[in-house]
Amino acid sequence: MDSKPRRRVAVVGATGVAGQQFLASLVNHPWFEVTALAASPRSAGKTYRDAITSPAGQLGWACDGPLPGQFADRIVIDAQKLDPSEVDLLFSAVESDAARDLEARFAPHVPVISTSSAFRYADDVPIIVPGVNGDHSALVKRQQRERDWRGFVLPIPNCTTTGLAIALAPLVRAFGVEAVIMTSMQALSGAGRSPGVIAMDVLDNVIPYIPKEEEKVQKETAKILGTLSGDRIEPLDLPVSATCTRVNVRDGHTEAVTASLGRPADLAEVAAVMRSYGREFVDLGLPSAPPEMIHVSDDPYRPQPRLDRTLNDGMTTVVGRLREDHVLNNGIRFVLLSHNTKMGAAKGAILVAEQVIAQGLA
Ligand SMILES: NC(=O)c1ccc[n+]([C@@H]2O[C@H](COP(=O)([O-])OP(=O)(O)OC[C@H]3O[C@@H](n4cnc5c(N)ncnc54)[C@H](OP(=O)(O)O)[C@@H]3O)[C@@H](O)[C@H]2O)c1
Repeated sequence: MDSKPRRRVAVVGATGVAGQQFLASLVNHPWFEVTALAASPRSAGKTYRDAITSPAGQLGWACDGPLPGQFADRIVIDAQKLDPSEVDLLFSAVESDAARDLEARFAPHVPVISTSSAFRYADDVPIIVPGVNGDHSALVKRQQRERDWRGFVLPIPNCTTTGLAIALAPLVRAFGVEAVIMTSMQALSGAGRSPGVIAMDVLDNVIPYIPKEEEKVQKETAKILGTLSGDRIEPLDLPVSATCTRVNVRDGHTEAVTASLGRPADLAEVAAVMRSYGREFVDLGLPSAPPEMIHVSDDPYRPQPRLDRTLNDGMTTVVGRLREDHVLNNGIRFVLLSHNTKMGAAKGAILVAEQVIAQGLA
């Protein structure tokens, strides 16, 4: 695969939090070459460096490490003017209102892998979590047939859903899961930069409400863990009671999860199915895949965002504090940590693109 010419990709929303992470993850990618950077008319015509520099002169590069030189002087184009025929694949990282229009313009021509919610709930659109429900990607053939598209749109979930779906997937398979209660402590970068969370609001504080987030977690978790049956996805019958909060952490969503299993299971068994989960997927050797999907820690003080979010470059879900719960039937409890801009956004979307290419769908 490495000897083939790299595919030309566009990043739409390249100046935002997720878009920047796309660029950081695509530097020297063996399969993809970024040939177009697009954003709103506000950024269009500027060099990338100028587009992310504030009027006061502050460079707004939010990823670790310096702004990659290969992008700094590239001219950002207006996403409305991007010609999809000039790329082989497109990564979309814009808010859902803008995405609804833009993705509908691009998907007739090229595969669009999206971080937005614009198409997530359409009947013919799966929500893909790499290593969990790659088989759902086959639904893009229905999009192509019924919408008469050459491309397709393939969204990843909301970043809070990603870690939850990954941690629950092995439990669903091994024991069944009857109900889930989850409280999230979500990082600031999850809110993006336009306008993002105001520092004065979150310093020394916890914000107990994130609009639309809890509904997304419920709906998306059931869809991801559902079954592809013919030309549609049968959502898993799984009630998820979510409370989503914003905390003063830069990156990494922490979630406290209580799950009612379908049958009794001891904790060693639960830890074992989590640790071995996704082995076949990992063994495919896709460039952005982590060496383990779930890392289970026995240290009662882990996971912590500052210490654990960079494990395997933010692509592994870290689970800790695994213990019994005596309130729900066959209850277990744990805390998980998932990197919201890596597996939960850009690098997760890149891994989805790698997976659909490996599946021969793109
Ligand atoms: N942040 C995360 O952790 C995360 C995780 C998973 C999914 N997501 C999803 O990813 C998407 C982007 O989120 P974000 O956090 O990166 O937001 P963000 O930091 O606010 O960035 C928004 C991006 O969209 C561009 N944009 C805005 N309006 C546009 C328009 N009309 N046409 C073209 N481009 C436009 C902006 O360009 P300008 O700079 O030119 O305004 C910017 O590049 C959202 O759908 C979000 O829900 C984010």
